[in-house]
Amino acid sequence: MRWVRDLHGKTVIAMAGAAAAIGLLTAVLVIGLGLFNVSARQGHWPGVTWAMHSTFESSVAFRAPPDSEVPDNLDTPDMVALGAGHYKSACMECHGAPGVPRSATVQQMLPEPPSLALVSDHWSAPEMHWIIHNGIKMSGMPGWPAERTDDVWPLVAFLRAQKGMTPETWEAMVDDADGGCAVCHGPDGVSQNAQVPRLDILSEEYIAQSLAAYRDGTRDSGIMYEVMSQRPGASVERLARNFADVSPEGGAAEPSQLAEQGRALAFAEGGSQSVPACRACHGPWPAPINPAFPSLAGQHAPYLEQQLKLWREGNRGGGRAAELMFKAARDLTDAEIAALSAYYAERAPAKLSETKD
Ligand code: HEC
Ligand code: HEC
Ligand code: HEC
Repeated sequence: MRWVRDLHGKTVIAMAGAAAAIGLLTAVLVIGLGLFNVSARQGHWPGVTWAMHSTFESSVAFRAPPDSEVPDNLDTPDMVALGAGHYKSACMECHGAPGVPRSATVQQMLPEPPSLALVSDHWSAPEMHWIIHNGIKMSGMPGWPAERTDDVWPLVAFLRAQKGMTPETWEAMVDDADGGCAVCHGPDGVSQNAQVPRLDILSEEYIAQSLAAYRDGTRDSGIMYEVMSQRPGASVERLARNFADVSPEGGAAEPSQLAEQGRALAFAEGGSQSVPACRACHGPWPAPINPAFPSLAGQHAPYLEQQLKLWREGNRGGGRAAELMFKAARDLTDAEIAALSAYYAERAPAKLSETKD
């Protein structure tokens, strides 16, 4: 550009100075004097909505995780049901649900939170995962209240299943007449959902310390943190007692070959230095074990695997004794985790004080 080259050095400096002065003046008018109208009733200036939405779309497409991170069990009924339970508490108010409209006030937000009935036509599973974990700046769409990303997938599963869901199906899935825990953990804490731990096998001490750890964020879970944030005054001891008083029922499963391998590991019979004897802390053990330790007998295998992997990655908090588990799980391989989880899951459901070999 010839005219640029012809410009005298001093002229350039003067022009830059003028531009800076105009910028400063605009900033004073907008920030200091309130010239820009922040009213959500006014809508954006022409083009601004388009620019913001396009930025949002490209930002998500650029940052979403690869397809390889989508879990194999994404579209299972258990994942959908867990996602629905959380959606009701954390998302429904803004986005509505099958047969549940958004309130008049929510519809006045700018941008308005859209109905998500058809959202899976527009976004892929990894893109929805990224949006839910990160939220969207300057829109009112909040980020996930935990660091870990694995517990976001049930929400993605639910959004995919929500397309075409009837209000009756939705109602049946999230019926929480008995205090809210049963939506996910089942009546009396006997969870039938393999993604959600059963509570009937646990002691009062362990449940209470876990709830306290979720409440203060020492145990990272976007789902249970939301649950506890909705019950700021609830006594963790009282909540724990409801489940600690239940006697677990049911027998052992026919031991699989995988479980046999797991048993050898849990008893530290394989001579492996990297796997400590799990049974010393989780049973079966001839003498009484510290009741602050969880029973694993009859717990769902997918849940056990998930927790062991969280420990290995360094993101499973808990109570004061959780440090012991960091050491126990640090060197486990995927195969050892699968075997150990199968062994404990196939045992007859029991409290720690009643586990027998
Ligand atoms: C306080 C209100 C609010 C809550 C609570 C909320 N959202 Fe949103 N959400 C929004 C708004 C507003 C947008 C629109 C953002 C935009 O278009 O820029 C949005 C957008 C989205 C989108 C993208 C939709 C699209 O069509 O582009 C998804 C997916 C989403 N939210 C999922 C969720 C989930 C899942 C939850 C619960 C974990 C949730 N939201 C909780 C307000 C909310
Ligand atoms: C929206 C579903 C949902 C609801 C509602 C819910 N939970 Fe949970 N709960 C979960 C999930 C998922 C986990 C596993 C979280 C993790 O990875 O740490 C969990 C974990 C727990 C644990 C830890 C168990 C263990 O073996 O370490 C306890 C205790 C617990 N929940 C108690 C409760 C109580 C009490 C309520 C009701 C006040 C409740 N939950 C409501 C889904 C839910
Ligand atoms: C020295 C004692 C100790 C040993 C050995 C030990 N654990 Fe643990 N484990 C604990 C404690 C304590 C917790 C509870 C931590 C918390 O949440 O506060 C726990 C929790 C767990 C949990 C989570 C249960 C739940 O309901 O969330 C799993 C799974 C587990 N251990 C598996 C194992 C396996 C498998 C081994 C053997 C490789 C093992 N542990 C060895 C002490 C131990």
